[in-house]
Amino acid sequence: MDLLPALANSFQSTFQEAPTLFICSPGRVNLIGEHTDYNEGFVLPAAIDKAIYLAVGPRTDNKLHFVAYDIQKTFTGSIDHIEPTKSWADYILGVLQQLQQAGHTLRGLNCVFGGAIPMGAGLSSSAALENAVGFATNELFGLGLDRLALLRLSQKSENEFVGAKVGIMDMFASMMGRAGHVIKLDCRSLEYAYAPLQMDGIRIVLCDTRVKHSLVTSEYNTRRAECEAGVRYLQVFYPEIKSLRDVTMAMLDEHLKESNPHLYRRCGYVVRENQRVLNGVAALEADDIAAFGQLMYASHEGLSHEYEVSCPELDLLVSMARHQPGVLGARMMGGGFGGCTINLVREDALDAFTKEITSQYFAQTGKDTYLHVCKIEDGTHLVR
Ligand code: GLA
Repeated sequence: MDLLPALANSFQSTFQEAPTLFICSPGRVNLIGEHTDYNEGFVLPAAIDKAIYLAVGPRTDNKLHFVAYDIQKTFTGSIDHIEPTKSWADYILGVLQQLQQAGHTLRGLNCVFGGAIPMGAGLSSSAALENAVGFATNELFGLGLDRLALLRLSQKSENEFVGAKVGIMDMFASMMGRAGHVIKLDCRSLEYAYAPLQMDGIRIVLCDTRVKHSLVTSEYNTRRAECEAGVRYLQVFYPEIKSLRDVTMAMLDEHLKESNPHLYRRCGYVVRENQRVLNGVAALEADDIAAFGQLMYASHEGLSHEYEVSCPELDLLVSMARHQPGVLGARMMGGGFGGCTINLVREDALDAFTKEITSQYFAQTGKDTYLHVCKIEDGTHLVR
């Protein structure tokens, strides 16, 4: 079934009118640079062909009426009293509240959304929805905000309203993505550049563990706190340091290795991962995909053993991929503790890869993995 007509029908039957706007807002992949964004480091993400679609229309009163089409759930409320519900509606409400706090006057809103971004797969369905809501409201009410302002609102909403202390990568990739390109993003300055992804005969394949461990949010916030603790410790010796972005392995070796091996491993991972992104960008520019793939494996090792945000299912998928012919690199992607691995696979090896990974994963875990061959698409945009 085509999603757009289905959302349009749902909108029509719920509100007895057609939606004013349709927004498409994509999920993201990240080639390399994990858990570096909140350390003011570097990332290399892209928007993909898994997106959320949002049908919206303004109301004449101050009511809010949202429909989550995929799960057939409804939220009703008022723009005058926005508070967290601990449900999917918070991804919409949080953005509306941020807009109000920024001084914008909003009216009521009707919306229906649905999409093909599996929730909890680490493809940033929440950032996609937040971006879609900001983008739609900006268009509907003529708020005059640019993309950067909108994606910052999405992050603020997730940090303050939803309560997840995420970095800026997901919103940035979803909002700023460009078809066929990866984004080289400096999360300190937010300077960015698009690099064409020229990997002839190679595809980006996601393998979904189909698990989501409950550790996700608490461990994510703990890692952030550990990084901040490492920075505070080093500031005693190097007052100019602002974040792990400013830290070198030599500094860590000298001051943290002996005194706090635990923080040393956490901070060491981030410092090395930042360097891997820079090396990875150079490898892509030199068309050396084999070297890039090795950096992906090294990233996974660090995430699994030093940063400890992997899980048995992610480790299994990466180790199975390593032993498959035609695979150039593989690693876990996103926050960790479940979700997807990202793999670079030669086109001519794709069928065998799919067959082998699917059957081996099932044999070892009793779960079906879900594979997706990605296309790199444009960021959040108006469909019509
Ligand atoms: C999640 C967060 C991002 C980023 C990644 C890890 O996806 O939302 O901000 O920190 O984890 O790289």
